[in-house]
Amino acid sequence: MIPRPLRTDDLDGAARVHAAAFDTPWSAEALGEILAAHCSFGLGVGAPELCGFILCRDLAGEAEILTLAVDPAFRRRGLAQALVRDAIDRAATMGTLALFLEVATDNPAAIGLYEGAGFRQVGLRRGYYARALGPNIDALVMRRDL
Ligand SMILES: CC(C)(COP(=O)(O)OP(=O)(O)OC[C@H]1O[C@@H](n2cnc3c(N)ncnc32)[C@H](O)[C@@H]1OP(=O)(O)O)[C@@H](O)C(=O)NCCC(=O)NCCS
Repeated sequence: MIPRPLRTDDLDGAARVHAAAFDTPWSAEALGEILAAHCSFGLGVGAPELCGFILCRDLAGEAEILTLAVDPAFRRRGLAQALVRDAIDRAATMGTLALFLEVATDNPAAIGLYEGAGFRQVGLRRGYYARALGPNIDALVMRRDL
C-alpha cells in the first residue's frame, strides 16, 4: 500500500485508527481541524478503509509529526515506515530543514521505527504523557535533519 494525501473523507477512519492506537482518542472533527490548517499535511494508507495515517505540521522551516497510527490488524507490514518516509520526502520538498517528534519512553515500537528512519534523540520531556493507569511517562524529543 502506497501512502497518499489524507482526505476529508478519511477522517472518520482516521479517528477509528487513532482510537485503537492511543489512550486519548482524537475525534474526526479535531483531526479535520488539524488537516485544514494551511501549515499541516497528512498522508494515509488503505482504501476504501483507512489502515494508517500520519499528520504533520510545518512551522517556520521546522516540521513536527503530530500523530502517527496504524490499525492493529495491519501492523508490522511496513506501513508506518512508508508513511514516515513519505512525510520526510514531503517536508523536504517544502523546504523544511528538520523534522521533530515526541514519543513516549514506554513505546519501543515507535522509537525503533523512528531510529530506523534516521531520527535521533535531542531532548527529554519529563512526565509529558498522562497514562490512564500509573504515573506519567517521559517523552523523548527526536529530530531528523532533512
Ligand atoms: C508504532 C506504529 C505506528 C508502527 O506501525 P507499523 O506499521 O506496525 O510499523 P512498521 O511495520 O512500518 O515497522 C517499522 C519498524 O518499526 C519498528 N517496530 C514496529 N512495530 C514494532 C513492534 N511491535 N516491536 C518492535 N519494533 C517495532 C521496527 O523497527 C520496524 O522495523 P522492522 O519491521 O524491520 O523490524 C504502530 O505500532 C502504532 O500505531 N502504534 C500505536 C500508536 C503509536 O505508538 N504511534 C506513534 C506515536 S509517536
